[in-house]
Amino acid sequence: MSRPKIIAGNWKMNCTPAETKELITSLIASEKSESEIVTIVCPPFTSLSVASELLSESSIKLGAQNLSEHESGAYTAEISAGMLIAAGVKYVIIGHSERRQYYHENDSLINAKLKAALNNGLLPIFCVGESLKEREAGKSQKVVSGQLLNGMDGLSLENMRNLTVAYEPVWAIGSGKTATPKMAQDMHKYIRENLAKIEPAIASSTPILYGGSVKADNAVGLFSQPDIDGALVGGASLSADSFMKIIEAA
Ligand code: PGA
Repeated sequence: MSRPKIIAGNWKMNCTPAETKELITSLIASEKSESEIVTIVCPPFTSLSVASELLSESSIKLGAQNLSEHESGAYTAEISAGMLIAAGVKYVIIGHSERRQYYHENDSLINAKLKAALNNGLLPIFCVGESLKEREAGKSQKVVSGQLLNGMDGLSLENMRNLTVAYEPVWAIGSGKTATPKMAQDMHKYIRENLAKIEPAIASSTPILYGGSVKADNAVGLFSQPDIDGALVGGASLSADSFMKIIEAA
């Protein structure tokens, strides 16, 4: 089955509304109208409304970096799925390793967030990946399969069809160390085998993105692998030039 190629930029805690305007204006200027690549930008919450306005005529889609598992109420500083939709957001990153590591998000919270997103019509980019310690202990597959199984627990088939998975080995994020195309492909294939065990109907259609120090010069090798359907890009998504080069490589 043919799957869409997706390149998503995770801006993390970067870009004020003014900087967002500048970056999105440059992206729109170099956007290729005939491109079949699904391009997504995920600015911080405070830049979503300016980004949404700027992207209204563009094929570039808007994503957020997190959401609350709750619908509304007394949850100071949280942002609900409904609020994101009202701000023009279509995609949301869930379970990023920085959320897992620094904000103690565990598999059961991530599962609740996936349900909140999907039940409200947002499209999650569900992140999984092992740490260096786990890889060195030979536990990469066990960690990733557990994150998939627990994160997707209780999702309906209809909801699972709207998932994109991102494999991001923690040791490759922001470190300049990318997994080799073979290492990444082996894990992507393993993820697809796990998806088949969880729900056979989604295994071949679910896009699986690679993330971790993706740059224009390593993107070609990664994207030539059969189970790598695009990338979740951090640092290199903060410059229109380097982000566009990755899109061109897809
Ligand atoms: P990086 O980040 O490309 O800067 O390594 C990727 C990510 O954390 O999504």
